[in-house]
Amino acid sequence: MDKVRVGVIGVGGHGRGRHLIPYTKLSNVEVVAVADVNQRRAEEVGREFKVKYYTDYMEMIERENPDAVSIVTPTGLHAKVAKDVLSKGVHVLVDKPLGANLSEVVDVVRTAKAKGKVLMVGYWSRFSPALKFGAEAMSLGMVGEPYLAYGYLVRRRGIPGSPTFIDKQLSGGRGALLDIGCYILDNLLSLLNFPRPVTVSGATYTKFGRNPEEVKFNWGSWDPSKFELEDYAVGFIRFENGVSMIIEVGWAANVSHVGEVGIYRVLGNKGGLEGRGHEAVTEMT
Ligand SMILES: NC(=O)c1ccc[n+]([C@@H]2O[C@H](COP(=O)([O-])OP(=O)(O)OC[C@H]3O[C@@H](n4cnc5c(N)ncnc54)[C@H](O)[C@@H]3O)[C@@H](O)[C@H]2O)c1
Repeated sequence: MDKVRVGVIGVGGHGRGRHLIPYTKLSNVEVVAVADVNQRRAEEVGREFKVKYYTDYMEMIERENPDAVSIVTPTGLHAKVAKDVLSKGVHVLVDKPLGANLSEVVDVVRTAKAKGKVLMVGYWSRFSPALKFGAEAMSLGMVGEPYLAYGYLVRRRGIPGSPTFIDKQLSGGRGALLDIGCYILDNLLSLLNFPRPVTVSGATYTKFGRNPEEVKFNWGSWDPSKFELEDYAVGFIRFENGVSMIIEVGWAANVSHVGEVGIYRVLGNKGGLEGRGHEAVTEMT
């Protein structure tokens, strides 16, 4: 079988560690090039993996003509890069989330459909043991009719201080809600088989990112006077089929647990499904 020729756009921490390295371990994949606007980073990674490197991803597409690319740039650029690349007829695996707002993600999905290309978003936790077990239990009817879904993904202190996450442009203009709230939403929606939402309400809070003391306790370093994103968010969604969903996500909060805790719960008339973390075996109650 011919190898799938891939390129990786954005080879920072996640692009190198979670896309590029795994690609090199797949026998049916050939990495043809990497692209990163940071010339030093592009060169360093290109040399390390002995592949061509570019600072302009469109030049990489034009010259290398890959079958598919991974997009692992900061979130605020995902939709634009995905649309550019799909328009050239290249399949896309874009890291989460697909985009920063509804109109841009609709645009990308339409482009993928119009071009007949695969567009996949890297919600790896959907393939975790907990979520896979949950999906199977739901499909076997063990929960019965679901009526409430609850998701919680909160760190006591874990504001990611690099520009990728907290610069307003690069992050897509949202903080914890977009960065980790997207996991909760995606994972719960997939368990519920993507019902149609009818009302959404919520609130966001910035209680830690602007406090200079917090720079000592979170991840990385940032200028608190320029912190404009939420570090906590809560949401309530009602769906057409009568199911409700409550989500709570936080980069920082005065909770009792030290690290990041994730909880997924679906209540139904026959059973309850609860997952803790991504690897934990989900419990049926
Ligand atoms: N799925 C997960 O578990 C997970 C974990 C971490 C990060 N991520 C996602 O991966 C993305 C990147 O995160 P990261 O931690 O690797 O950040 P990072 O800052 O380490 O890397 C981002 C890289 O993108 C490059 N870049 C910026 N603009 C570019 C452009 N126009 N063209 C090409 N390259 C460009 C930067 O120079 C940098 O090297 C984010 O969207 C983040 O949400 C996902």
